Amino acid sequence: MQTIATDRFTTAVRDEVDVVDLPVRGALPLELNGDYLRNGPNPPPGASDMHPFLGDGMLHGVRITNGRALTYRNRWVRTRSFLGQTKYLKSFGRIDLTASVANTSVVEHAGRILALVESSFPYEVTRELETVGPHTFGGRLKTPMTAHPKRCPRTGELHAFGMSLLPGGLTYHRIDATGTLVESRPIPIARVTMMHDFALTASSAIFFDLPVIFDLTRAVRGAMPYRWDDKHRARIGVVPRDPAAGAVRWYAIDPCFVFHFANAHDDGDRIVVEGIRYRDVWRAGSQIENGHLHRWTIDRTTGAVSETPLDDVAIEFPRWDERRTTQANRFVYAVADDDGAGCSVLRYDLRDGSSQRHRFPAGAFPGEFSFIAASDRENDDTGWLMGFIYDAARDASDLVILDATDINAPPVATVSLPVRVPFGFHGAWLPNP
Ligand SMILES: [Fe+2]
Repeated sequence: MQTIATDRFTTAVRDEVDVVDLPVRGALPLELNGDYLRNGPNPPPGASDMHPFLGDGMLHGVRITNGRALTYRNRWVRTRSFLGQTKYLKSFGRIDLTASVANTSVVEHAGRILALVESSFPYEVTRELETVGPHTFGGRLKTPMTAHPKRCPRTGELHAFGMSLLPGGLTYHRIDATGTLVESRPIPIARVTMMHDFALTASSAIFFDLPVIFDLTRAVRGAMPYRWDDKHRARIGVVPRDPAAGAVRWYAIDPCFVFHFANAHDDGDRIVVEGIRYRDVWRAGSQIENGHLHRWTIDRTTGAVSETPLDDVAIEFPRWDERRTTQANRFVYAVADDDGAGCSVLRYDLRDGSSQRHRFPAGAFPGEFSFIAASDRENDDTGWLMGFIYDAARDASDLVILDATDINAPPVATVSLPVRVPFGFHGAWLPNP
């Protein structure tokens, strides 16, 4: 049952739909006025037999206003490659970055909504999920852009990076609060590794250079282009945000892999980074072990990095109150698969090491849950967690809203969709402007 439901959960949907006036159980908080958007791979009918994670991106959006769930809508991101106008690999050594599956995340910055995948240029979309086109910051962006940019709450800047495959190289980007790409700084690296996410503190951008390398010969064969390589030494690169403050400095760590970080901050001469650590990935075939919440503490005086496992529960999709990005944050929220017994959303309290969980019934599959603050006061942890679950019994999905301060409690509100939202990646709550 669980396996059949999982297969169904990961199968792409075929139709784009518009649904109005969705049924709500519980009460939608009146403070929530905006759109919840979520991105994920959804290969169109007839697409080649690719890895499902490489499918073209589809956005799913629920609009909430004055306690009502007004609409649900889903749309493919109509990139130039989706429309058949270009291909990613134009010829050996030449890539068209306007070709994109745009399937990983969605962020809003300076009034633009961008659908992102780490291999290509961003694609701008509207709140109605119509595709505007590739966004290159007026031609200034020359590299792909990560699906995990970080906004600094203090400066309003959006920090990002690009890892180019051909020719290789890491570039650190700063986009100011008005949406202008103000700096693209090359960071020398020995070889191209998989870098899905990074972390940001008040002083530094933090890049993990880990032993998952890009293998061009595999890519040309059409095989999985990344593989584990024991010969590649794991290290953390600390890059000053201020270009006048010096070059990257590297710190050796134990081999591991990280898809997602859970914030970072400066602590005097130390830098603290939390993330979901995997012992290894793709060492043999497509195998991925479980990932666990972990802390790296970089001592910039001694050059040593201490590592602390924080939990042994397998989790992913870490989120936090993004008003705390670059500062110490008390809570991390994540999703856990409880070994076939069901799935949970967890809230970690980093201050005392405890965790609280909302356990969904068997047959309910949650995706990422985003934190939405309830108040404008800093250091106020009241808010909600919002995300989709797939309900196998209905063969359809719900948008679930939990009280972030009491996630054991039944959902504050559940919006029932008449259709499935298949497994996807990252979402965002976009308050009304
Ligand atoms: Fe991601």
